[in-house]
Amino acid sequence: MKTLSTQVAIIGAGPSGLLLGQLLHKQGIETIILERVTGEYVLGRIRAGILEQGFTELVREAGVGERMDQEGEVHEGFIISDNGNCTHIDLKALTGGKTVTCYGQVEITRDLMAARAAADLTTYYEASNVQPHDVNSSQPYITFSYQGEDYRLNADYIAGCDGFHGISRKTIPAHLRTEHERVYPFGWLGVMSDTPPVNEELIYCKHERGFALASRRSATRSRYYLQVPVSDKVEDWSDEAFWEELKRRLPAEAAAQLITGNSIEKSIAPLRSFVCEPMQYGRLFLVGDAAHIVPPTGAKGLNLAASDVATLYKLLTRVYREGDTACLQQYSPIALRRVWNGERFSWWMSNMLHNYTGMEVSGMQGETFSRFMDSELHYYLNSENGRKVIAEQYVGLPYEEPL
Ligand code: APR
Ligand code: PHB
Repeated sequence: MKTLSTQVAIIGAGPSGLLLGQLLHKQGIETIILERVTGEYVLGRIRAGILEQGFTELVREAGVGERMDQEGEVHEGFIISDNGNCTHIDLKALTGGKTVTCYGQVEITRDLMAARAAADLTTYYEASNVQPHDVNSSQPYITFSYQGEDYRLNADYIAGCDGFHGISRKTIPAHLRTEHERVYPFGWLGVMSDTPPVNEELIYCKHERGFALASRRSATRSRYYLQVPVSDKVEDWSDEAFWEELKRRLPAEAAAQLITGNSIEKSIAPLRSFVCEPMQYGRLFLVGDAAHIVPPTGAKGLNLAASDVATLYKLLTRVYREGDTACLQQYSPIALRRVWNGERFSWWMSNMLHNYTGMEVSGMQGETFSRFMDSELHYYLNSENGRKVIAEQYVGLPYEEPL
């Protein structure tokens, strides 16, 4: 068994693990990252692409904002189509100047991987049997296998950045954690295509046939989604069928602009709201998808991971600079306050925009629930205060500073 040691051991090289590693490195704190799959595999996972302003600032603070600032698109607003009637959510005007940036998660991950490699920081890709031990003691460690050899990694702290299916959350004894979950009765079928997007801004479409989203990655790359039954299989959806259905759900002006082409990626994702409380156990801290999942309707998944990272990196910096270990107790309460807000917003947007016909929800028939949600959406879109409520949360609430 080979023995290694570091200050902060990070499990998972997704955006959470890589961003945390980079920010800690900037503060002179040493990390080792253990990742189950290859770097190429991580980059092959297509995820969302809307970054809150707070996130872009954090990426710049980490010293990896250059390409994001060059290639990312600043979006000053987005559109909500209610069965073809469009309302512009003018983020900039409604929030006193805030905007979001459209830049794929894959690109952020690529930039963070490049920065980690350039700084010669250690990442073990294809590490297997990763297992944290003694996390509730002062000497936690992780065992893992790499290229046929067994390793022990000693660390002061462990950051569980290993996503929803990771090992870290399960390391917290079951009787000490509470998991809250809602699984939605539909999924999103996503298509990426190298075709010019229908619109410069995103269009969230509520439609009687089901929700649709017109998103983008650049002037030449589109990302579209359709609400589909969870039982649907990707194979059931030819490109032609996808484009036809999307066209029906888009507002007429956008449908007229739709340029179709071959899909370069097509997948179905289930929709889930999930929170694990607390997000800390001894010297183990859960970060990002390891602790919480949101449905993608509010574009909050990656952004909530970023606020966890911001909080943890500030607290760990204080530990190493000032020896103040007590401050770490603030991590879970601070992170969870923002997480629950993002959960509530994503759940609310999902409820307002999807079609629940034929499904039971909140103890009532989908048809009845839909009436409440039709009215809710109508009210919020037709009141400036309502649009402000949507805009304020879409651009992201400020990060809470530790005491
Ligand atoms: N050992 C090592 N690595 C693991 C293990 C394990 N047992 N289990 C999972 N991993 C790795 C995964 O392979 C993955 O690369 O952890 C990483 C987790 O990355 P993500 O799932 O992308 O999660 P996170 O980094 O928290 O990213 C934030 O929020 O809503 C989403 O789309 C958003 O994916 C984004 C996420
Ligand atoms: C995306 O571009 O993939 C995307 C954008 C906004 C969302 C969800 C996904 O709300």
